[in-house]
Amino acid sequence: MIKYWNHQELTALRRMRERFLAGTAGAQDYWRLPEDLALYDGTFAERIGWKWDAVLRELTARGWQPQTRHVLDWGCGSGVAGRRALAQWPHLESLAVHDRSALAMRFATEKARADFPNVHIVHASSTLPPDALLVLSHVISELPARDLAALLDLARQAREVIWVEAGTHADSRRLIAVRETLRDTFSAVAPCTHQRACGMLTAKNAPHWCHHFAAPPPEIFQNARWMDFGREMGIDLRSLPYSFLVLERPRATPPLPDGLAHMIGEPREGKGHLKVLSCQAEGVAEFILQKRDAPKLYRALRKGDAPPVHRWIFADGKITGSAEFPSSDTES
Ligand SMILES: C[S@@+](CC[C@H](N)C(=O)[O-])C[C@H]1O[C@@H](n2cnc3c(N)ncnc32)[C@H](O)[C@@H]1O
Repeated sequence: MIKYWNHQELTALRRMRERFLAGTAGAQDYWRLPEDLALYDGTFAERIGWKWDAVLRELTARGWQPQTRHVLDWGCGSGVAGRRALAQWPHLESLAVHDRSALAMRFATEKARADFPNVHIVHASSTLPPDALLVLSHVISELPARDLAALLDLARQAREVIWVEAGTHADSRRLIAVRETLRDTFSAVAPCTHQRACGMLTAKNAPHWCHHFAAPPPEIFQNARWMDFGREMGIDLRSLPYSFLVLERPRATPPLPDGLAHMIGEPREGKGHLKVLSCQAEGVAEFILQKRDAPKLYRALRKGDAPPVHRWIFADGKITGSAEFPSSDTES
């Protein structure tokens, strides 16, 4: 059987994965060799990039883009978050990368310079360029309380924040706590469709968490190297859960009109119906959608093809249609 990864690569990848899973990655700087960063960048970070793609697609579909022209990628690792932001928004002129690892900053800088020769790219101390977009990715589980508090002080100076984390219960709950802490300074742009306290914080919703699923590019499933990576690491490559939070300084008009809902996770299928966990200003609640009431919407939700934001149409407390946002497609 052909092996697509050599022993040394697999040992390094396994070491990284174990550290991330055990939650011990915060203990000390773990980047030892540029080769480790390159390996990470082509594998774990690439999967993180697909989550960023989903987030940026959602923001773009809403017509949202950062007002600033300067980005700071804090805890940059190999720099995937900063590069995704630059690729999405060509009006961005400068990228600063920060990490506790000098090796990571060097890797992230070199890679971003190669991909974006017209963008000004620098190492940063842990400070923000004035008026910047702060991007954060998969750092929250590595930060002890004191470091997280310092990071939130830094975040308060940003104009906009895009923060993407793993879709675990623990990391989503940490991100919800961040939202609640920063609510006095920022408006929530996404995934939240409202500015009230997070509906996940009620006792009834304690078992739930705010997470979503990204779709990896379909071609990876025809790619033997990716398939081998999934097998060797014990990762189901189809599943890409993530949580995220996008914040901006309050503007004259709120980020979204009233009355919208954001789906959470994947709908649960029952006999002839779906249970949809939905977040809206009134709180987080599970709604039923019967197949016979809206077959097209039912199919789209079941296949994961439906957009994340909806203006639900209800009859007798059940969803019977959705005026999708921002399109005005309605089915009832
Ligand atoms: C799991 S990696 C994520 C890297 C990158 N943001 C991504 O999404 O691929 C976490 C990164 O946070 C960095 N980090 C951890 N604690 C930090 C701290 N206190 N200050 C700055 N960077 C830190 C690590 O060195 C590492 O590069």
